[in-house]
Amino acid sequence: MRRKIIAGNWKMNKNLSESINLISGIKNGLPQNVSAEVIVCPPFTSLETVHSLIEEVPVHLGAQNMYFENSGAFTGEISADMLKSVGCEFVILGHSERRHIFGETDEIVNKKIKQAVSNGLKPIFCVGETLEERENGKEFDVIENQITSGLAEISGDDFNKIVIAYEPVWAIGTGKTASPGQAQEIHKFIRELISKLYSQIQAENVRILYGGSVKPNNAADLLSQPDIDGALVGGACLQAESFLQIIEAAG
Ligand code: 13P
Repeated sequence: MRRKIIAGNWKMNKNLSESINLISGIKNGLPQNVSAEVIVCPPFTSLETVHSLIEEVPVHLGAQNMYFENSGAFTGEISADMLKSVGCEFVILGHSERRHIFGETDEIVNKKIKQAVSNGLKPIFCVGETLEERENGKEFDVIENQITSGLAEISGDDFNKIVIAYEPVWAIGTGKTASPGQAQEIHKFIRELISKLYSQIQAENVRILYGGSVKPNNAADLLSQPDIDGALVGGACLQAESFLQIIEAAG
């Protein structure tokens, strides 16, 4: 049985006081026996404070990005060790906004994944096709390429620390969700690919999240698909109430 994950990617939203409000709302509304693994990914500036506020509750901390070097003259960048030191367990890597706005290549994403796992952080490794790629029938090729390049030289042991997120670019922030069937088809394809790259058991154990306009009104349908093991939520995680409703939909 794969335990579902509900992760909130706050993106570039919430200053410190807004972050405190949001995490307090999530904390207060969290069901007693929450069945999903809940992860919040605030901006860097709020990580330490949010960490101090979730110590007593079953909420895990993730960052939204990091650099692949240990330390040094990389102005503006954040290392894996820095993230660990403020309580991060997870880090989102390869998000489509990093790929498309900031020019991150598969090679960069691969270096970041290696750096994260070797420093004890669990990557939430994002992949997804653009609308144009889907319209040209290239979605499976694109996903296969992103997965194989992103996981290049990642050992079986290290792979076990990784969570995969399928986020079709055309569904992010657009209100246009992949249908449960469309998402399931890609998730199944990713699981089969993992079975070829690693093993059947690892394919059965890896958690594959769906992201892209997940809302309280569509979460249950998506999460009931056999290969969808959770959600990476953007817009709907910025209000405690809607994030909590998605957490409940996973239960
Ligand atoms: P939205 O839920 O706003 O579409 O964002 C999805 C996403 O990019 C999560 O990482």
